Amino acid sequence: MLRTQTCGELRANHDGQTVILAGWVDTYRDHGGTVFIDLRDRYGKTQVVFASEGGDDILAASRSLRSEDVIAVTGTVTRRPEGTVNPKLPTGEIEVRVRKIEVFNKCQQPPFLPTQIDLPGEDLRLKYRYLDLRRPAMQQTLITRGRIIKAMRDYFADHDFLDVETPILGRSTPEGARDYLVPSRVHRGKFFALPQSPQLYKQILMIAGYDRYVQVARCFRDEDLRADRQPEFTQLDVEMSFVKADDVIEMVDGLVARLAKQFLGIDVTLPLPRMTYDESMRRFGHDAPDLRYGMELVDCTDLAKQTDFRVFRSVADEGGFVRGINALGAAEKYSRKDIDLLTEYTKQDFGAKGLAWFKVESDGQLSSPIAKNFSDETKQAIAQRMKAKPGDFLLFVADAWEVTCKALNGLRRRLAAELQLYQPGDMHFSWVVDFPMFDFDPEEKRWVAMHHPFTAPLDQDLAKLQTEPGQVRAQAYDLIINGSEAGGGTIRLHDATVQQQVFELLGMDETSARERFGFLLDALRFGAPPHGGIALGIDRVVMLFTGQDNIRDCIAFPKTQKAADMMTEAPGQVELRQLRELGIRVLKPDESA
Ligand code: AMO
Ligand code: AMP
Repeated sequence: MLRTQTCGELRANHDGQTVILAGWVDTYRDHGGTVFIDLRDRYGKTQVVFASEGGDDILAASRSLRSEDVIAVTGTVTRRPEGTVNPKLPTGEIEVRVRKIEVFNKCQQPPFLPTQIDLPGEDLRLKYRYLDLRRPAMQQTLITRGRIIKAMRDYFADHDFLDVETPILGRSTPEGARDYLVPSRVHRGKFFALPQSPQLYKQILMIAGYDRYVQVARCFRDEDLRADRQPEFTQLDVEMSFVKADDVIEMVDGLVARLAKQFLGIDVTLPLPRMTYDESMRRFGHDAPDLRYGMELVDCTDLAKQTDFRVFRSVADEGGFVRGINALGAAEKYSRKDIDLLTEYTKQDFGAKGLAWFKVESDGQLSSPIAKNFSDETKQAIAQRMKAKPGDFLLFVADAWEVTCKALNGLRRRLAAELQLYQPGDMHFSWVVDFPMFDFDPEEKRWVAMHHPFTAPLDQDLAKLQTEPGQVRAQAYDLIINGSEAGGGTIRLHDATVQQQVFELLGMDETSARERFGFLLDALRFGAPPHGGIALGIDRVVMLFTGQDNIRDCIAFPKTQKAADMMTEAPGQVELRQLRELGIRVLKPDESA
């Protein structure tokens, strides 16, 4: 090794030892006859001192050092003089007085410094990712990420799970996004698809008798990106045989408890709370409710029918819904201008037609520009239904069920953040279960699988598969952390006939189902055990456990919102020769295929 210790290691008990430290020049202070440098590596920082006692050459050499140069120093560990101990630094009791210095690499003027307080723009950080990754905050996240993944692997190894790798070059698996395709030189005109998840391989492993499977699996999805989505991400992928939904949930409960204890010091009570999808939509308007705070959605449709307020009345009479939330004690905090902004938000982001609101006065009366349209009795009934107290702020959306869900969920989250209804360290873990099997796609006018087409319905809903697909609930479960979907899974169909029925419902006739999933339909006829599983989004789990809100800060080399790698400039052009070999011609932007 070119060093004897790391920059985070030395303490007072090393006093007098000769050591060699290597690392990056973090800060530089020239105090006339003495130069102080904080030398940094991923373990910490140590103050190293260049003074005349080391020789004039040493002092001169130290003066040419600049931030982010990579050096090694040989010197003596010395207790810092009285009054200069730095209690903020674990190595703050000592310094290393340098006798020899070696400069490995000079750093040119960098576009930004890992030590600077104001972060540069994200594009710059991603372009010079190696500088960004030197930041202690980034290093902490990646260290935690590595430890979380190890803890996950250990947990499943403790429970007899076998780690099996599945192919990256494979067949398209429908997880609802577009595939990344890989052309084949050998099979001209044919393409591999990068896995959106190892879904079918893990099911095949169950059929092959590997009854407990786990993998830290890379997944690829060409979809619209958001703060919590990457085109390339990592799942903790799990599958089990001879299980019911409860068994998978219980296994993951145990994992969550272990991770929460180890990484957050939190004792969670098991089993984690569970809520059905229907209840979640009713109470929170969303299938991944943030349960760190209340502010539940309250239905006032019946009361709306009694008012003269045209907006409420017509929506309620035409089968729509009038639902609201109560932001406790928030009346004073929202001016007319703020409410205009909330109204715009509700309209722009969720397609609501407007936002109706009341403030609760000190005498308990509801006040609002629309209040005159409501009788005293109705106002009182609304106040009662909303459990309104003086100072509360009530917000209502009248619309189709879906719009009230989306808009009020959005408002609920926004108000909770603005009103700081939760603390940075608050964590809430829960399950949402019994999702609908299918969603109707109005554009394509057909049913689509809500999770994926290999999901089993609830036993009691099986009969409705042919008659009322919209009413069929799935044996599906999502793990929710602080209002984010951290994982999702289902019990699978293990019967080829029912699987074929589901394919048909999804608009895949027997021929096209055979063409895409013939291998699965075959395997389901060669001894398939009942099985099910789940996948957790590791990037999201890391993001939530480290209290961050940008998934890119939890991945060493993420893609931008536009799915590009700023550092390597991937995706890039390839040589014509490569395209010819693959039998591919690239159309010009204005040329149609
Ligand atoms: P699903 O599609 O729900 O299920 O994915 C499982 C979990 O992976 C995470 N996730 C993502 N994270 C970052 N970027 C993305 N683009 C992204 N997409 C998904 C989420 C999600 O909960 N094969 C099934 C699992 C199963 O049924 O066992 C699947 O992939 O946290
Ligand atoms: P209008 O009569 O359209 O000017 O609306 C009167 C008030 O009701 C305004 O504050 C609107 O934002 C609000 N509003 C309009 N449509 C709706 C709706 N569908 N749900 C809730 N509030 C609405």
